[in-house]
Amino acid sequence: MNSEHPQLTLDHHSDTEAKVNGPVTCLGLTFENDAVRRAHFTEELRSRLQDPEFRKIEGFPIGSDEDILNLSDPPYYTACPNPWIADFIDEWEAQKKNRPSTSLGERTLSEVEGYHREPFAADVSEGKNDPIYNAHSYHTKVPHKAIMRYILHYTEPGDIVFDGFCGTGMTGVAAQMCGDREVVMSLGYQVKPDGIILQEETDEDGKKVWRPFSKLGARRAVLNDLSPAATFIAYNYNTPVDVAAFEKEAKRILKEVEEECGWMYETLHTDGKTKGKINYTVWSEIFSCPNCASELSFLDEALDAQNKQVLESFSCPSCGTVLSKKSLEKVEQMVFDKKLNTTFTINKRKPSIIVYEIQGKKFEKVPDANDLNIVEKISSLDIPESLPLDRMMHASMDMEKWGDKWRAGSASFTHVYHIFLPRAAQALGSLWGKASAIDDYELRNALLYWLDQSIWGFSILNRYRLRAYSHVNQYLTGVYYVPSQTAEPTPWYNLEGKLKRLIKVFSHFSANKNLIAVNTNSISNIPMPNECIDYIFTDPPFGDNLAYSELNFIVEAFLKVFTEQKSEAVISKSQRKELLQYYNLMKDCFYGYYDALKPGRWITVEFSNTKASVWNSIQTALTEAGFIVANVSALDKKQGSFNAVTNTTSVKQDLVISAYKPNGGFEERFQKEAQTEEGVWDFVHTHLKYLPVTKQQGALLQFVPERDPRICSTRWWPIMSVRVTSFRSPARNSR
Ligand SMILES: C[S@@+](CC[C@H](N)C(=O)[O-])C[C@H]1O[C@@H](n2cnc3c(N)ncnc32)[C@H](O)[C@@H]1O
Repeated sequence: MNSEHPQLTLDHHSDTEAKVNGPVTCLGLTFENDAVRRAHFTEELRSRLQDPEFRKIEGFPIGSDEDILNLSDPPYYTACPNPWIADFIDEWEAQKKNRPSTSLGERTLSEVEGYHREPFAADVSEGKNDPIYNAHSYHTKVPHKAIMRYILHYTEPGDIVFDGFCGTGMTGVAAQMCGDREVVMSLGYQVKPDGIILQEETDEDGKKVWRPFSKLGARRAVLNDLSPAATFIAYNYNTPVDVAAFEKEAKRILKEVEEECGWMYETLHTDGKTKGKINYTVWSEIFSCPNCASELSFLDEALDAQNKQVLESFSCPSCGTVLSKKSLEKVEQMVFDKKLNTTFTINKRKPSIIVYEIQGKKFEKVPDANDLNIVEKISSLDIPESLPLDRMMHASMDMEKWGDKWRAGSASFTHVYHIFLPRAAQALGSLWGKASAIDDYELRNALLYWLDQSIWGFSILNRYRLRAYSHVNQYLTGVYYVPSQTAEPTPWYNLEGKLKRLIKVFSHFSANKNLIAVNTNSISNIPMPNECIDYIFTDPPFGDNLAYSELNFIVEAFLKVFTEQKSEAVISKSQRKELLQYYNLMKDCFYGYYDALKPGRWITVEFSNTKASVWNSIQTALTEAGFIVANVSALDKKQGSFNAVTNTTSVKQDLVISAYKPNGGFEERFQKEAQTEEGVWDFVHTHLKYLPVTKQQGALLQFVPERDPRICSTRWWPIMSVRVTSFRSPARNSR
């Protein structure tokens, strides 16, 4: 055993970079190489998984031991509760002693005792065009560049940041990027050679001055989400990739799939001799004419190809009746499913347009007999082994509606693999099977990370949009919307562009997994010590905005580990969760946050929902957990600035809540004195310490709304009333 702690440096790259082929140190142990490290911790996790108590932790994902182990990279990432979080925290705390010293002039940044920050708000949508942000999509992502401003404001290098609703783990990326001089400077800050970061401010005379406010240096991040699909992305965003090996393997897979499935994507040019390579095929649903009952392809009849538009009205090719889409009925078809050994009903479809290439030149054609024969031949092939056969949401077969996102006649598919047309099923099955078979964990995961974002794009959810430049990933987000016209891309059309972009991203951002720990279960019960976190940035689920577990189900079926829905903090009809249940779940999560945060430290909650009821639930849950809301800000899109929201019932887009966990025995004093005048003044004095004394705009002093007695009282009355009746103890175990 070797217990040396690596120096904490300013640069995120040089901090104990994992060496794939050389010795590596992890949690005080030295291993021959990274594969041996993973094997060691995998065995430890295996034995933990056999403990029934471990599996009882709230929000424990649904999956077999083997599937959880396969997805995990212990101790850095576990697709279940992470037993090593406390060890990481211990190690990271010890490493703080090695922080490099810098002189900050008059505004020396304090260590823990002297920690003082004022509430802070910045645009949470900044950086949406960044290639790193776009490397992998997810529902409501917050860009890392926006989060960086918060982390730089509230923390110092080596501090531990936590995001329990981490989604894609952008908080982790932001924490790492705080050590990247170039990226910090791209935010408009100056960075001195010793790492001091300065921001432009206006002094009392109206002059622009650069003032120090933070230090360059990576921060650590604990990332958690209930969804294994989310933590899988979060882990991959935050771990290094051997770019050359990734590129080589991805190209090998594409080539092998071409050798296997290439014949499925060939078409004869209109000259009848030259072979073209298909880019995508457009499928149209079949409808019946209300007058003569004959079948017609909507796209064939309603498309005005020349003007690139769908006609409002068109004639039935059989009887000439003038029709509109509304007047048509979808034609269904019974299909025998060899896997399920049963028949099921699907909407009938036919290929209508083929877009193909010959020597780089694009052509479009109507499928001919040869094309239709190929499609027929593919339909008779067996479903590939690697395509998941799961029933949607694992609902029982007699339950037609499997979730909130089920829709009659559209999102009414019953099983995951039913969303793929036969050819896409073959291609995706082959791609996923080949990537999953790779022994090297990091390489395999990087390849699956590349492929998992193409799953929806291979399916019947991929809309054909007449005027779109590209037909890749054209599905509607946040729903399972099955369109009447679907673009079925080839693997190359779907994946080559993404591969190029990922290679670029991986080459520019070399993440360091020693800076993160990723955990999968509910925030309400993460195996984490109390009071160990320096700052929390979080973007929670907002009521019924998004059904995460349903929307992540398809990808989780490929990963073979699923979200445990009971703990999911959402409003959902199918889960029988209304506002009250949502509020209680959010409160449990904020209790988890409260326990984890050090006293006197801050939590930033990003809020983007327009429902006042959801907004009130979040605010009350925060307060009831013990946090004190210091400031609520809304982005003024025109001015690009943030204004304090003084009316607690008004809800706008992009609100930022700044709250803190009280410090210095306030809780205990409050318990004794809450109902006395002294208790009230104690609260007011304690609270005012967290608020700015003055605010300036240019040379002018501004009113500080948070210090207005009316605003103060809207913040503290709920706390008083909650606490007078039920005082909240900070200890996790006392709940
Ligand atoms: C708004 S998303 C976060 C997206 C994230 N900001 C990003 O940039 O990708 C909210 C997340 O909360 C997760 N979630 C819901 N209930 C949870 C719970 N009880 N514990 C932990 N995570 C939960 C969902 O799975 C979802 O990924």
